[in-house]
Amino acid sequence: MAPIRFVLNGSERSVDGFAPTTTVLQYLRGTERLVGTKEGCAEGDCGACTVILEEPDAVGSLRRRAVNACITFLPALHGRAVETVEHLSAGGDLAPIQREMVDRHASQCGFCTPGFAVQLHAAWRAGSLTDRQSVKDEIAGNLCRCTGYGPIIEAGVAVAALPRPQTRAADATMAARLTDLRGSGTFRYEAGGRLWFSPGDVDALADLYAEHPQATLVAGATDVGLWVTKGHREFEVMIDVSRVADLAHVEEAPGRLFLGAAVTHAQATRHLATLHPDLGEVMRRFAGPQVRNAGTVGGNIANGSPIGDLPPVLIALGATLYLRRGDEARSLALEDFFIEYGRQDRAPGEFVAAVEVPVIEPNERFAAYKISKRTESDISAVLAAFKLRFEGRTVVAARLAFGGMAGTPKRALNAEAALVGRPFDAEAAARAAAALEDDFQPLDDLRASADYRLKTAANLVERFRLELLGGVPTRIAEVA
Ligand SMILES: Cc1cc2nc3c(=O)[nH]c(=O)nc-3n(C[C@H](O)[C@H](O)[C@H](O)COP(=O)(O)OP(=O)(O)OC[C@H]3O[C@@H](n4cnc5c(N)ncnc54)[C@H](O)[C@@H]3O)c2cc1C
Ligand code: FES
Ligand code: FES
Repeated sequence: MAPIRFVLNGSERSVDGFAPTTTVLQYLRGTERLVGTKEGCAEGDCGACTVILEEPDAVGSLRRRAVNACITFLPALHGRAVETVEHLSAGGDLAPIQREMVDRHASQCGFCTPGFAVQLHAAWRAGSLTDRQSVKDEIAGNLCRCTGYGPIIEAGVAVAALPRPQTRAADATMAARLTDLRGSGTFRYEAGGRLWFSPGDVDALADLYAEHPQATLVAGATDVGLWVTKGHREFEVMIDVSRVADLAHVEEAPGRLFLGAAVTHAQATRHLATLHPDLGEVMRRFAGPQVRNAGTVGGNIANGSPIGDLPPVLIALGATLYLRRGDEARSLALEDFFIEYGRQDRAPGEFVAAVEVPVIEPNERFAAYKISKRTESDISAVLAAFKLRFEGRTVVAARLAFGGMAGTPKRALNAEAALVGRPFDAEAAARAAAALEDDFQPLDDLRASADYRLKTAANLVERFRLELLGGVPTRIAEVA
């Protein structure tokens, strides 16, 4: 067992004795007294706790990303560096985003301000601030209750135009230092009898999970973090899969896209967007940037949520899921993984390794629609993803998948049958829409009523038909 070794605002730390579920936010505020990082919601929703994580990337440089400290576990810092708002002005001068926010009166009570400053600073350094829309996208995970977003956006736009610091040499030095801090092999941490393992390769993960099949796997902790902060759960053994190099692998091969389970949503987005622009749009609206920077493809599938955004999209595309248990690997169609609410086809000690997505063929048409109460950073009420294959005008294969309509992400088999073997005309769309009532008996809940869900799903089938006809303005941007 070893202490957690990391770099905090440029200085090394080696800490011990904290429960593995201690959050980075609790440590920063309670132990380091770095109280600039705020606690708003403690569930990844408000961005007040935003910090910057740094770690070595695959080419010996530094990967930087903003994450929510409130749902990041302290042992996850091992071999990483964390930068807080206090460090943005460490040299004595305010960082450009801080200066611009001051000049534009972009703060009133100030509670949200450090989170906005850190988030926009990280986005600027990453080159993600390009225009006004990019500034809005970058602060989709930050809430302000008093200033209003106008001056904050203006500050972001002003910073977007400024040259970024060139830190290639310093980044390489930090990357080497962090590699050294992490050490080789599996990181093992223990406090109060509770264990945290962080393996570096997939064989070590397979062995550890076979040895501790009762362990809780944790990747980005954007779900597991809330089990702790809101559910007050504790775990005897946790295995961090986010550092397993083999699971962080992305491959664009002819005819398919391969995403390792530990690939973050931020990393997956650009690859998915090249498959189809709707995938880019679904991902743009998936949580906020801090959650996308931590949350993973594998976590979104393995949690089995009926309202996860990726599963219906990947099911409609015809994805294959890869699982591993000990030395045994197997694969299955992604839809077969979801058995019923809360139950997936996954044995004790078995983990999600990757998902493989076929590209969309020239004779196929695809669309994905996320319907949520709020455009930005909201969970779907309904997510619909459709893929039709045509021979001439005739539909020869259909995959219609929905989230939010059942206890699992699910294909609409009756609606699909209503479409196959005929042209996708108004009558076929109406028959498919009606068949959805045989496919689904959705629930009433806080996000939507059962009736709303069924009507929305039916309308989306017709919307897809209208879009394929072309020239019909069904998207907000086209109507506006
Ligand atoms: C503010 C906020 C907004 C969100 N918005 C959205 C949204 O818009 N759309 C959406 O779909 N989700 C959303 N989520 C949920 C969450 O971000 C996603 O489900 C995310 O993909 C989970 O990934 P993770 O890596 O953080 O998983 P974790 O929290 O680390 O793990 C989730 C579950 O998966 C298991 N697990 C993780 N990796 C593996 C693996 N390789 N093999 C087997 N089991 C594994 C864990 O044991 C756990 O049961 C949101 C969450 C928050 C906090
Ligand atoms: S405190 Fe709200 S996102 Fe962390
Ligand atoms: S300035 Fe008060 S919450 Fe944003």
